[in-house]
Amino acid sequence: MSTSRVFHRQLRQPLPVAVSGQGVTLTDSEGRTYIDASGGAAVSCLGHGHPDVLAAMHAQIDQLAYAHTSFFTTTVAEALAERLVATAPEGMSHTYFVSGGSEAVEAALKMARQYFVEIGQPQRRHFIARRQSYHGNTLGALAVGGNEWRRQQFKPLLIEVTHVSPCYEYRDRRADETPEQYGQRLVAELSDTIDRLGGENVIAFVAETVGGATAGVLTPVPGYFKGVRELCDRHGILLILDEVMCGMGRTGTLHACEQEGIVPDLMTIAKGLGGGYQPIGAVLTQARIVEAFRAGSGLFQHGHTYLGHAVACAAALAVQQVIERDGLLGQVRERGRYLQQALLAALGEHPNVGDVRGRGLFWGVELVSDRTSRQWFDPARRLHARVKAEAMARGLMVYPMGGTVDGHAGDHVLLAPPFISTEADIDQIVHRLRGALDAAVAGG
Ligand SMILES: Cc1ncc(COP(=O)(O)O)c(C=O)c1O
Repeated sequence: MSTSRVFHRQLRQPLPVAVSGQGVTLTDSEGRTYIDASGGAAVSCLGHGHPDVLAAMHAQIDQLAYAHTSFFTTTVAEALAERLVATAPEGMSHTYFVSGGSEAVEAALKMARQYFVEIGQPQRRHFIARRQSYHGNTLGALAVGGNEWRRQQFKPLLIEVTHVSPCYEYRDRRADETPEQYGQRLVAELSDTIDRLGGENVIAFVAETVGGATAGVLTPVPGYFKGVRELCDRHGILLILDEVMCGMGRTGTLHACEQEGIVPDLMTIAKGLGGGYQPIGAVLTQARIVEAFRAGSGLFQHGHTYLGHAVACAAALAVQQVIERDGLLGQVRERGRYLQQALLAALGEHPNVGDVRGRGLFWGVELVSDRTSRQWFDPARRLHARVKAEAMARGLMVYPMGGTVDGHAGDHVLLAPPFISTEADIDQIVHRLRGALDAAVAGG
């Protein structure tokens, strides 16, 4: 029986105690070390203990730790917003700071709804999102999210959201379709859904640019998001891209949507923004949305106590400066190619690996009991949990999940190593992952 007074996520399994972190490695109280190959949950883009980030945080704490945003702005929040807008896709003009990914999604949903109230379209009330997505655990974010297992018991509390198919090429593209044709089929499905709800009644379509936690790094097929963007424009519907996990450099460009050639109306970012040094998230907004608020009520009816926290902004600013100064986006692309090759070499022919997919340093490995039929393992085996335990036993943190296929069946492993990982780190990651996978499958 654990004597811990922390209400942990899991109440039956004791956790190791993390005591220090340096570079790509975390160390526990028993002296065991772990390579952080998932950045926690795709968070620690600069690894742990980065001296420049720590120095920036120390300096900010010494000067000013906190000032409430209904009284003051701060130099550091202004500087971070300036930087984020300067590097954002075209037309984005402002940054709304929050403390994490779910808060960013909640703010984006409310901002989208209030925008239509401001411009005299209060009848718009529907959100459309995708199955097998994850947008956070607060009620609004959970409602737009498409993970059935996470939603199930909270359904009576969730706002009504219409879900369409994810872009899940490995499972859903038909053999007689090209990737482009598959993307067009998905856009047609979205179009039908919009028509059914009435285009004038829809607030926004919400999607992760590259799907993350629920189905394990679902990369969009060519043309899909262009089609989605056109459809949204035709109906005056906002496009909210959730880049909480896939954004801020993780896929090799600062924003994942750059690779799709589209610009959203609102974009949520978090994890890699502050790299885990402080809790911070943000919504990047198009100028016309901010202008509608300014010309209308002049007030976004939302807010939290810790918006734009000075130390969080200082940490995020330092993280982003280091990424630029050290050319880490280029390194993500380069090491990403190395990781892809290493994964394919070690796992490409593995009898229980169905698909290896990803971009930059963001990779998913989908596990199957049979490669030809793509049959998944019996969910009762909880293979993903076994992989995690076997990986931890080998000093490796990866982020495995079940419910890959439909929220219940399927398993995958998500990898999101720090941008500073070396080739030797990646070799170790892939070697230990292979060992963990074999042991988990052999474990019956
Ligand atoms: C795409 C996406 N959106 C939102 C969230 C929620 O972020 P947080 O856990 O910081 O609330 C996550 C977290 O994994 C995510 O991956």
